[in-house]
Amino acid sequence: MSARPLVNASESEAEIPQALSIVELILMLLAVAGGTFAAAVVLPLWLPGLAESLLGSEPKAFWYLARTTGVVAYLLLWLTIVYGLVVSNKMARLWNGGPTAVELHQFITWLAVAFGLFHALILMGDKYIKSNLTQIATPFAYAGYEPFWVGLGQVAFYLTLIVAASVYVRKWMGYRAWRTLHYLSFVIYFLLTLHGFFSGTDTKASPVLAMYTLTSVVAYFLLIVRILNAVRTARPTHNAAAKSTSHSAPAR
Ligand code: HEM
Repeated sequence: MSARPLVNASESEAEIPQALSIVELILMLLAVAGGTFAAAVVLPLWLPGLAESLLGSEPKAFWYLARTTGVVAYLLLWLTIVYGLVVSNKMARLWNGGPTAVELHQFITWLAVAFGLFHALILMGDKYIKSNLTQIATPFAYAGYEPFWVGLGQVAFYLTLIVAASVYVRKWMGYRAWRTLHYLSFVIYFLLTLHGFFSGTDTKASPVLAMYTLTSVVAYFLLIVRILNAVRTARPTHNAAAKSTSHSAPAR
């Protein structure tokens, strides 16, 4: 199978196939909200043992759910960034390429958004911090627990939503603006690494520490390869432009 970069000059004006239609997307996000409701209300009714953990004097289950889904959301976001870089570095031929790669890249992004949403909303059930929807939805307003590091996660979440949704308005915003906006992904990844590392309870655990180290090394290695590729492909154009200028210059 021949590999194609995620986006290149020749397809800059072409339509990017959408992994999910707007309706599917809304349904998926509603399912997440439903899942959060099920975790908070329905599960305790079915499983009284869990209800004790959820609704007892010191409920911990919501906090455990927030921690685990936070790590899953982080890994999914890392995967989508790595996958995007693998595709744009033309390494996708190692596995698959073309439309499958583009769709997978988009789908994993929305999955990460879904887990991120669950991770944030489930915190409302945590009776230790006692946060409400306003504190969860407003960057740096998570009073009571690391508002700055949590704030970075909140900002990154909104930026992820903007970048992920931009594919639906790419036709209207134009390729160049869309691509520039897409570079925000690296800022998002950086913010989320700081957020997870500094606000996470599990950072002290060596497997989690190893996860942050390994994922960051892979992501930044691929980013450096991407930058070097961009510099290399930019150079011949520059030289060609210089040559054509010298050729077209009239002889004196
Ligand atoms: C896609 C977006 C997000 C990702 C990938 C993410 C990821 C993570 C990760 C990996 C952790 C560390 C978990 C641990 O080690 O315990 C974490 C912790 C945390 N996150 Fe997020 N996060 C995101 C968005 C948010 C948002 C929007 C909020 C809103 C309040 C938030 C609030 C928190 C809090 C309070 C903790 C600390 C939990 C603890 O006690 O360990 N996060 N997040």
